[in-house]
Amino acid sequence: MFSRHKLLAFFLLSTTFDAFAEPVDQQQLLSPDGRIRVIVNNQPAGLEYSINFNDKAIIKPSRLGFAIKGQPDLAGDLELVKADKETVRKQWQPVWGERATVSDEHNELHLYLAEKTGLKRKFEVVFRAFDDGVGFRYVIPEQEQLDTFSIEDELTEFAFARNYHAWWIPAYRDQDYEYQYLNSALSSIDVAHTPLTLTEVEDNVAIAVHEAALIDYAGMTLRNTAENHITLKADLVPWADGTRVYAQTPLETPWRTIQIADSAADLLNSDLVLNLNEPNKLGDVSSYVKPGKYMGVWWEMHIGNKSWSPGEDQGATTERVRQYIDFAAKHDIDGVLVEGWNKGWEGEWWSRKPTFVFDEPVVGFDIDAATEYAQSKGLRLIGHHETAAGVAHYEEQMERAFAYYKKQGIQSVKMGYVGPRLDGKESHQGQFMVRHFQKVVETAAKYDIMVNAHETVKDTGLRRTYPNLMTREGVRGMEYNGGSPDTGNLPNHTVIIPFTRGLSGPTDFTPGIFNFDYKKHRPNNRVPSTLANQLALYVTIYSPLQMAADLPENYEGKPAFKFIDDVPTDWSDSKTLAGEIGQYLIMARQDKHSSDWYLGAITNEEARMLPVDLSFLEPAAQYRAEIYRDAANADWRDNPEAIEIVSQTVSRDTVLSLDLKPGGGTAIRFIKL
Ligand code: NOJ
Ligand code: CA
Repeated sequence: MFSRHKLLAFFLLSTTFDAFAEPVDQQQLLSPDGRIRVIVNNQPAGLEYSINFNDKAIIKPSRLGFAIKGQPDLAGDLELVKADKETVRKQWQPVWGERATVSDEHNELHLYLAEKTGLKRKFEVVFRAFDDGVGFRYVIPEQEQLDTFSIEDELTEFAFARNYHAWWIPAYRDQDYEYQYLNSALSSIDVAHTPLTLTEVEDNVAIAVHEAALIDYAGMTLRNTAENHITLKADLVPWADGTRVYAQTPLETPWRTIQIADSAADLLNSDLVLNLNEPNKLGDVSSYVKPGKYMGVWWEMHIGNKSWSPGEDQGATTERVRQYIDFAAKHDIDGVLVEGWNKGWEGEWWSRKPTFVFDEPVVGFDIDAATEYAQSKGLRLIGHHETAAGVAHYEEQMERAFAYYKKQGIQSVKMGYVGPRLDGKESHQGQFMVRHFQKVVETAAKYDIMVNAHETVKDTGLRRTYPNLMTREGVRGMEYNGGSPDTGNLPNHTVIIPFTRGLSGPTDFTPGIFNFDYKKHRPNNRVPSTLANQLALYVTIYSPLQMAADLPENYEGKPAFKFIDDVPTDWSDSKTLAGEIGQYLIMARQDKHSSDWYLGAITNEEARMLPVDLSFLEPAAQYRAEIYRDAANADWRDNPEAIEIVSQTVSRDTVLSLDLKPGGGTAIRFIKL
C-alpha cells in the first residue's frame, strides 16, 4: 500500500509527466456535479463520443466528422495532438429574459486532431459539460487543404441508448415548424426537427437535442440511420443544389446540444442553449429594446371578418387602427401591429411572386396620422414585413424599409416568410435562410428596431448576442385556431410546446383570445381552451413580446383582461413547478421590476386537481393572490368563458389546490403585501 505521501508524490509525478506526453486516445469530461460524463474515443476508424447520466448510458459511442466534397471523409486516421481542459464558473446578465442572472458553469474539453496520413487535415472538437447537459462543436482552422470548400454531410450521430418516448415534428414538410407534435417511440422517427424531446420515466431522464449559435451554416435535422432504429444522424438542410454548407476556414460550427434532466419539467429550467451563444454584440440597446405587450389588426383577418387585401374588407384602415390605439392606451399595451398596411396584399398574395412595397402604405391607411396618434397616446405602431418567402424581393428593399420605419418612430417589426420555399427553391432551415435572417437582424439593429419573425429559421439562442432579436413563431400558433381548414389545434398542443419548441427560445404564440364564438366565417374552428387557460399561457409560454391577440371590443368590459394588463414580459426568475409533456404544466415567474410573482397552470382535455406549493415566494412575506380560475362548469368544448376571479392572502407555506377543468387553466398574480 502507498502511504499518503507517496500517493501524493505519485499523483504529482503522473500529472507533470502527462503534460509532456501525447494525450491518450480516450478522454473524459464530467459536468460540475459529476452526474454527466462525456467519453471521447479516438478509434482508428474515427472519432466517437458517448454520454452517461447517473452512470447510465444515454448516448452510446457515436460518430463525429464530415464528408467534404471532392475529398475523403474527415473522420478517421486521426492523431490526438492536444487535449486542453478548462473549468468555467461564471454568471452573466441578459438584457432581458426568463431570469436576471444566468449561471454558466461548465467544464470544457478541447481536442485538437490531425490526420496521420493523406491530406493531413486538422480539426478540433470542443465539448462542454454543464449540469443541464452537453454541447459540442467542430472548429476547422485555416489550412491549405481546407480553404473554401463544400460540406456534403455532417457525420455527427446520436446513438441513443434506449428506445425513448419521442416528442417531435417531421422535418422537410411544406409548413416547416407549423405542425402538431407527434408522440411516438424514438424508433418511429424518420426525420425530425429539433428540439427533439425524449423521455423515459423508468430511467428518470429527459433529453432534448437541438443546436446553439446557428450562424452561416445549415440548420440540423435528425434522421434515422436505419428504419425502426434508435441511432439518429445530423441531417443538415441542403441548398437547392444539394450542398449542405458552403464553408470557409476558419470555421466554427453551431453547437450540437443535448439537454439532460431528471424529468421533462426540469428541462424547462435549462439555460444551456443561451450559455453556448456569444455575449451581447450590440452594446447598449436600452433606447429601443423593450420587452412588452402588443395588440394588432390581425385576428380579424384570421377569423375571416376582415382581409389583408385592399378594398371593402380591408382590415388596415386608419379608423380601425385608431380603435386599437384607443384601447391599448387605456391599458398596459405598448404597441399596435398593423398587418396589410402596405402595398402589395391584393388577392392571393401567398400564391404569386411577391408584390409587396415596404415603404408605401395602402390606400385607406394613413400611416403618418396613425403614427402621430399612437405617439400622442404614449405608444407606438408595430411594423410588418410579410415577404411571402420572396427573399430577393425583400432584400432589395430591406435597408429602405427599416429606414422608413425608423423615420416613423417604429421600434418593433414583425416579419414573415409564408410559403414552402424561399425564392421558389430554398429551405427555411438551410444556410440560405440563416444568412438572410442574420442580415435582417443586423439591419434591424442598425435602425434601432426589435425583430419578431414568423416562418423563419429556428431559434438557437442568438438573442443573447443580438438582443434586438426578441421572439419568433416557429410553431403552429393561435392563427390555426382562427382560420385553419383543419379546424385548429388540439387542447394538448399548448401543453406540449413549452417542452419542445419552447426549449429553443421565446415563442410568439399570440395568446389571449376571449371570444370563443367567431363562427360567422369559421363555423368549425375554435380555440381549444378555456378563458383561464388563455390567461395562463402568458406565463407558461415565454416571450418578451406577448400579443393580446383578440379584438379590442372582445376585451372591453371583461374583468379577466386585468391579468393581461398586469402580467409582465421580462422576468427576474422563472421556475417550472411541475409538468408532464402533453398533460399539464405549472410555471412561476417573478417580475423583473417588482417583487410580484405570477403563476400559470394549464391542462390538456382532462380536468385535474393540482396541488401547488408556494415555496418560491419570499420567506416571512404575505401576498395577495389574485386568482383567475375555471368556474365549476367551465369546459373548452361548450363553456370556455366561465371564469372566476377571487383573491386570498397567502404565504410561502400555503398549498393551493388548482382545480383545472377540461382544456382549462389557472392564472395567478401574487402581490407582496
Ligand atoms: C403568417 C403569420 O404567422 C401570421 O401571423 C400572419 O398574420 C400571416 N402570415 C400574414 O402575414
Ligand atoms: Ca405562421
